[in-house]
Amino acid sequence: MNAPEFVAGLVAEMQTLFARLAEGQTLEAESQGNVDVVPLLRAALKSELEAAELGGYALPTTPEIDAKSAFAQQCADEMKHYRLIAGRLAELGENLESHDPFADGYSPLYHYIKGLKTTVERIAAGPFAREAIAEVRNAQFIALCDRLGDVATASLYRDVIQPEEVEHHRLGRAVLERLCTTPETQRLAAEATRNTLAIADELSTLAERTTGLGPIPAS
Ligand SMILES: [Fe+2]
Ligand SMILES: [Fe+2]
Repeated sequence: MNAPEFVAGLVAEMQTLFARLAEGQTLEAESQGNVDVVPLLRAALKSELEAAELGGYALPTTPEIDAKSAFAQQCADEMKHYRLIAGRLAELGENLESHDPFADGYSPLYHYIKGLKTTVERIAAGPFAREAIAEVRNAQFIALCDRLGDVATASLYRDVIQPEEVEHHRLGRAVLERLCTTPETQRLAAEATRNTLAIADELSTLAERTTGLGPIPAS
């Protein structure tokens, strides 16, 4: 299988899994049932920081320029998302002075991605899969904001944050389409993608997270 065909197969696998999600299901999972704008914005602060850190962490040990560029872009954009979300929380009257996004530690997915060593695995887990999950989560969040009449939060996500998460996924996909030319790189990319789907908090309430196509570890 050539690289673009292989990557299209991985995208189809993810879409099959996402299609099983009910309306708002990623939000319930992420907030432990506290589905409202403020707690979800607070939860988002942590994922944006984690994504920024992972992008920056990969930079010096990623030799491929297209992959390095994807990580650098992500690092800057995710930190910007953090600032925008913190600004929106302040507008909503939230005081973040004593807020520590890492009070409960880093997420299991952060630890998993940080431990990956090859560019193919890092790109597959981070920009490619994690950003695909972010897109689904954000779409559910925008729908929630629309239902609740929070126009400003909806438009922050719809007009600024979501298009950039989509771009991060696109950059990751392009790198995989260039690098996944051998059975070994395809195996590594598929494993990292499936592991990410299995570990991500946003998908934790799906009864069955496997795509049926590969091994999923206990998370
Ligand atoms: Fe982001
Ligand atoms: Fe992103």
